[in-house]
Amino acid sequence: MPELVDPNTRLRASFLKAVAEFHAEGPGRPVPWFVTDVDPPALTDAEAFAAYVARVLAERTEAAARPDARVPMTTLWWTEGDRVLGRLAIRHRLTPGLRRVGGHIGYDVRPSARRRGHATAMLAAALPVAAGLGIDRALLTCDEANIASRRVIEANGGRLLAADGGKLRFLLPTGSAQQLM
Ligand SMILES: CC(C)(COP(=O)(O)OP(=O)(O)OC[C@H]1O[C@@H](n2cnc3c(N)ncnc32)[C@H](O)[C@@H]1OP(=O)(O)O)[C@@H](O)C(=O)NCCC(=O)NCCS
Repeated sequence: MPELVDPNTRLRASFLKAVAEFHAEGPGRPVPWFVTDVDPPALTDAEAFAAYVARVLAERTEAAARPDARVPMTTLWWTEGDRVLGRLAIRHRLTPGLRRVGGHIGYDVRPSARRRGHATAMLAAALPVAAGLGIDRALLTCDEANIASRRVIEANGGRLLAADGGKLRFLLPTGSAQQLM
């Protein structure tokens, strides 16, 4: 059964293969930012990869929040055994910029693992994690043309809030205790 796990050094080979697949998707397919964030040749070195993993884990803290997002973010990898299938990041709170684009949760499934329900299952698995971070209703955004992402969000209970400039914004209940009261 696939599961969300913390980034870890054990998965280095598979993570780097997944990154290579995103790069190979070809022109016209936007490369996710988490992929442009890594330098695969540099990360083949075990120590460099350990430093990368440590940095990603540290982004969960206020002190090490990424300068571009400026909010703490929990990154998780969707894995089956030793294979990294995708990644998901939960931003702990919103900025005005994230309210427009980005929202609380972003995800990507590696090309060779798509259309098997992974993104839908990965987002479902992440909602309790978001609830644990105090997010009652997660804001998710996607491009209007991104039919797959829209389906993923709607399958997880996302309610369309607004469509604006080619972007869709959804609210998703995370199932937090506060919501049930
Ligand atoms: C969007 C993405 C995460 C979907 O991942 P996935 O694991 O293939 O998604 P799922 O298998 O859970 O599919 C969800 C739904 O989308 C549909 N779908 C998947 N890919 C599709 C495509 N290329 N075109 C149309 N529908 C598609 C599936 O059939 C499924 O529909 P259903 O619920 O009616 O059966 C993946 O395509 C991806 O990583 N894309 C690049 C990055 C990205 O767009 N991230 C999201 C940013 S908001």
